[in-house]
Amino acid sequence: MVNTKVTLCGVELDNPIIPASGTFGYGREFAELYDINCLGSFSFKGTTLEPRLGNPTPRIAETAAGMLNSVGLQNPGVDAVIEKELPKLRQVFHKPVMANISGFSVAEYAEVARRLEDQPGIGWLEVNISCPNVHGGGMSFGADPAMAAQVTKAVRQVTKRPILMKLSPNVTDIAAIARACQEAGADGVSLINTLLAMRIDLKRRRPVLANGTGGLSGPAVKPVAVRMIYQVYEAVSIPIVGMGGVQNAEDVLELMLAGATAVEVGAANLADPFASKKIVEELPRAMEKYGVEHLSELIGGAH
Ligand code: FUM
Repeated sequence: MVNTKVTLCGVELDNPIIPASGTFGYGREFAELYDINCLGSFSFKGTTLEPRLGNPTPRIAETAAGMLNSVGLQNPGVDAVIEKELPKLRQVFHKPVMANISGFSVAEYAEVARRLEDQPGIGWLEVNISCPNVHGGGMSFGADPAMAAQVTKAVRQVTKRPILMKLSPNVTDIAAIARACQEAGADGVSLINTLLAMRIDLKRRRPVLANGTGGLSGPAVKPVAVRMIYQVYEAVSIPIVGMGGVQNAEDVLELMLAGATAVEVGAANLADPFASKKIVEELPRAMEKYGVEHLSELIGGAH
């Protein structure tokens, strides 16, 4: 019998599979399809201080080996999440959930974290400093080590929970950003968010997405994710949650060998709502195939 358990910042997971924020809502939508307690955890929809309608449509486009999104952090705002979503989430999911939060100022990040602090059932805060689809926030915080550190410190001051800083691949030196987060008090980092990208409509001769640009995800980005996880693993001593184009259990093993302790599944959930469940089920077979008894032994094994 193989052992799929991993420990992320002191919290044990039955397996490392975590549907990524923005691809799994607040859980209940998927709980109508299957028992989501088979997952290690999931990262809930990126939540901001105020409600957001998101970007104008179209905000999704297909690409050859993935997709573009420019959703723009649509969400009901942290107070509605606390009042309406978390009680429903707790009915269907009985493990620690990852709370994904975003902000448009350092103070906003801290305020969202503060409001969530006394909410039961949250295992980690995943602080998104890497959304490529909003102006005046998101990726701008994750592109500069000093800004990334400021957000980390501000959130650190208001929470006792483990903080994972979600990093952008749209930078020259992701290891420097990860190091700045670690020095500022982060307990872990998650990477990679989407790659800034564009498609153009040949008939209209204009960008396909109303926002112009969007974030590329899906299998096309997996090698970029593997490279960045590998680099960050060498640069920091805090755990990494890896993500980027994961489609199957072998992809999970690859990201773990690069240095990931747990692995998020994103775009695959949008193509197949059962994708994360299937990966959980495939994992023991893939471990047997590659002679892995304890999954946690694989973390950073490629170094
Ligand atoms: O547009 C979005 O809501 C995407 C967010 C993200 O990639 O962090």
